[in-house]
Amino acid sequence: MNGPPEPFKIKMIEHVNMPDQKKRSQVIREAGYNTFLLKSEDVYIDLLTDSGTSAMSDYQWSGLLLGDEAYAGSRNFYNLERAVQDILNYRWIVPTHQGRGAEHLMYSYLVKPGQIVPRNMYFTTSRLHVELPGGKMVDAIINEAHDPENLHPFKGNLDLKKLQGYIDEYGIDKIAFVNVEMNVNMAGGQPVSMENLRKLREFCDEYKLKIIIDATRSSENAFFIRDREKGYEDIPIVDILREMMSYSDGCIYSAKKDCLVNIGGFLATNNEDIYEHCRNMVVIYEGLHTYGGMAGRDMEAVARGLRESTSYAYLKYRINQVHYLGDLLIKAGVPIVRPIGGHAVFLNALKFLPHLTREQWPAQTLAATIYEDSAVRSMERGAVSKGRDKETGENIFPLLELVRLTIPRRVYTNTHMEYTAESIIRLYEKREAIPGLKMVYEPKYLRFFQSRFEKIK
Ligand SMILES: Cc1ncc(COP(=O)(O)O)c(C=O)c1O
Repeated sequence: MNGPPEPFKIKMIEHVNMPDQKKRSQVIREAGYNTFLLKSEDVYIDLLTDSGTSAMSDYQWSGLLLGDEAYAGSRNFYNLERAVQDILNYRWIVPTHQGRGAEHLMYSYLVKPGQIVPRNMYFTTSRLHVELPGGKMVDAIINEAHDPENLHPFKGNLDLKKLQGYIDEYGIDKIAFVNVEMNVNMAGGQPVSMENLRKLREFCDEYKLKIIIDATRSSENAFFIRDREKGYEDIPIVDILREMMSYSDGCIYSAKKDCLVNIGGFLATNNEDIYEHCRNMVVIYEGLHTYGGMAGRDMEAVARGLRESTSYAYLKYRINQVHYLGDLLIKAGVPIVRPIGGHAVFLNALKFLPHLTREQWPAQTLAATIYEDSAVRSMERGAVSKGRDKETGENIFPLLELVRLTIPRRVYTNTHMEYTAESIIRLYEKREAIPGLKMVYEPKYLRFFQSRFEKIK
């Protein structure tokens, strides 16, 4: 058997289309070889993102009918508040429409012009919300994270020496706070260890630095701590989560991932100043502080999903499915980021398409080619996502040039994983024949969403 069986059964299905080869070639060309610009109806298996794509449980769906759509003081807000207090151990919560709404409120308060924010590794929206108030995000992840083949079990860890280096270089007043992402997305879904969090807290206490966690994939990170870190083998996921968060001053959370919902987010904190400020600002940008851009029913689904995400049986099945796909590719010799992460399998496009230059956008090319071959949609996570240097305007070419095959939670079967692996293996066998792309349109912000490309003849 390929790992534990699903701890659920299916009671509703959605039909999907399988466009033929001619149609696939046409629509990907019309989409400017950018998988974000494809229509969902033209996609057979959608591995673009794990964000907002989960299948909700009957417990969550029934919660929607209990939505209290009062403008103020909805009972669902209090259910959400209690869930966050129970599971993440924060006293105060401010709901937002999704994760970037929380980033906006939290980071615009904590970052002053000219300050820097060290983070294990940048995420696109997080970095932008540090830059908009005049700050700069810098990576402080351990070197192992930049090596797709290094098998370090906690490649999301922060390097305290790098952190010390930033303090020495910029001065302590220039550090706005330290940002820690759980199961680091851009590094391949790699976890942070409890030991690293504990040491980081000691380090930051010496300098009176705040730690803000990007808790978006914290339940999946907690699973890896239980699975890989000595002393946590028998500890319930909830207790691991509470300890993780206890080393921070607050968190932002995109509920669209681990909370198993299609929309929602929040920030939470034990710091009264942060709370006061964000509670005040939320009414300008999101909505009253007891709904923050979410309907009452959505808050109920988030509250229930957050609780469900702490089931060990669920997390084991979930992460096992991601590893099932990754292992099929490894067996066929396809270069992927290892260890396989929590939410996605990342293809190493530099090794997959070594005949392309960086300006021919290997990861963008590979994502478009996979779609053309099999109607499986994936996403570029490399130089297009990284963007340009703010000062020089030059393209930044990160060491990791990846294609992300992101597995929605509780949505696809292992047969879907096998179909996906077969397409990628087929392409790997004829990789030299795959031509690169040239960028023909580039928007100013978060260019990966809307940029357009043409095939190089
Ligand atoms: C690590 C991380 N932080 C923040 C966000 C932003 O959240 P949202 O898409 O809900 O605005 C995301 C979304 O993908 C993410 O992966």
